[in-house]
Amino acid sequence: MAQPLKILYVTSELAPLVSTGGLAEVAAALPRALRARGHDVRVALPCYRQIPAAVLGEQYCMVVAELGGKAVHGAMRASVMPGTDIPLYLIEHEGYFGRQAPYGVGAYEFDDNGERFCFFCQALFHGIRQTGWMPDVIHCNDWHGAPIAIYLKTRYRRDPFWGRVPCLFTIHNLAHQGRYAVSRFGATGFDPALLAPGCLLFDGDMNFMRGAILFADTLSTVSPRYAKEIQTAEYGCGLDEILGARSADLYGVLNGVDYDVWNPATDPNIACPYSAESPLGKAECKAALQRRFDLPVRDVPLFGAVSRLYWQKGFDFVLDAMDRMMAHDAQLVVLGSGDPWLEGQLSGCVHRYPGRVGVFLGYDAALSHQVVAGSDFFLMPSRYEPCGLAQMYSLAYGNLPIVRRTGGLADTVVDATPANLRRGTATGLSFVPKTAAALARAVDRAVALYADPEAMGQLRHAGMTRDFSWGRSCEAYEALYRKTARSVL
Ligand code: ADP
Ligand code: GLC
Repeated sequence: MAQPLKILYVTSELAPLVSTGGLAEVAAALPRALRARGHDVRVALPCYRQIPAAVLGEQYCMVVAELGGKAVHGAMRASVMPGTDIPLYLIEHEGYFGRQAPYGVGAYEFDDNGERFCFFCQALFHGIRQTGWMPDVIHCNDWHGAPIAIYLKTRYRRDPFWGRVPCLFTIHNLAHQGRYAVSRFGATGFDPALLAPGCLLFDGDMNFMRGAILFADTLSTVSPRYAKEIQTAEYGCGLDEILGARSADLYGVLNGVDYDVWNPATDPNIACPYSAESPLGKAECKAALQRRFDLPVRDVPLFGAVSRLYWQKGFDFVLDAMDRMMAHDAQLVVLGSGDPWLEGQLSGCVHRYPGRVGVFLGYDAALSHQVVAGSDFFLMPSRYEPCGLAQMYSLAYGNLPIVRRTGGLADTVVDATPANLRRGTATGLSFVPKTAAALARAVDRAVALYADPEAMGQLRHAGMTRDFSWGRSCEAYEALYRKTARSVL
């Protein structure tokens, strides 16, 4: 085997400790998979108040960052990722991270988020240097990790320790860019020359994501399709041109599934185990889900969804398609939370379609497994989807995803067209237009499919036997880390 790599993985969330979306699950799974392949991977995370005492480890050293001409002091704790021997470094600062949530509360985002994550990144440089462990590559994620790429090529460009350490920047969601008023630039500790058009200044604001896209040695995103999409005006969120300019360094690596957690044969959260070879237990899971949501236990198509409820995810299409969906003898269960308006409208459907629609507002990991196991079809009508994890979980559980054909959804779900059905490659249903009517047509197709048990069985089996394990993605990341490391030689 080639020489193991020393990788510093920098993340703003980590399941099951602090989780707001898929990044937390990726940050938990990818380092584990890399470790299993022999790499010396270490993870860094802000020391949020939500982190349980048992995971805090020991205070390793004091750290300091220079923000707005002031020295801001904190500490670095050394712990391990739960259930592993992977070192976990936690950057501690009561004022920045001792808050009730990682980024904000409800729709309100803390207005000093830029400064908080600049502190995190600078303090991390100081703390890791004190360990003496010099990574071969730093892998930073989303705008919260963007200051890593920016500082490396400016503040630390001539630093004897950090000066030759390269970095890979991964975009999990281009819509969240870390945009702040120019008046906050002083508190970032960035070189003042960076506040210029063509650099961090964009559309009248400073923009962290833009900085990382310009400065990181290599760039990636979480599916090949999204890597292409973000270079277009439709999906580029204003950054398509600079992404296009760096297209030679931009890669799409599909996320994986942690099959230790998402396996219907061993899942402790579901009513009855089942597998591709003996799928009968799925019916028991469906009945349990119907009971859990107070729906009659009947043999009708059961549509499920587990999602953050935001514009990205297209649940307004679900609402607008609801009458047409419910014109069929079908049921729907939704587990989600987010936008209060969407939450209210979805709850309203429970009363509008009694005994047909069930909604649980909140975040519930065990229930998400039950929805994935118990439903027949899984709705993900996203306007855009960098990768998406839930559709891959659904495939593993014989639950046919109904997705908009975009990003990672396009890369993982094969539409049940007549040709794909004949070839035996179909695993779900997909549609292109961003409209409720297109979703409704896909639902009509799903209901017709449900009436054909043989075809249903074939699709389920095809989905359940697809392999999205992290191993393959890990190989792609290894190649990317080595390429990134070579870029600074
Ligand atoms: P995103 O990161 O954009 O939210 P992903 O599909 O990558 O989308 O990841 C979301 C993860 O969060 C999935 O594993 C999904 O099952 C889970 N999830 C979302 N909402 C809930 C919820 N209300 N309860 C439990 N799990 C949820
Ligand atoms: C983001 C994206 C989602 C992706 C996840 C993990 O939250 O919205 O599509 O799966 O990051 O990469």
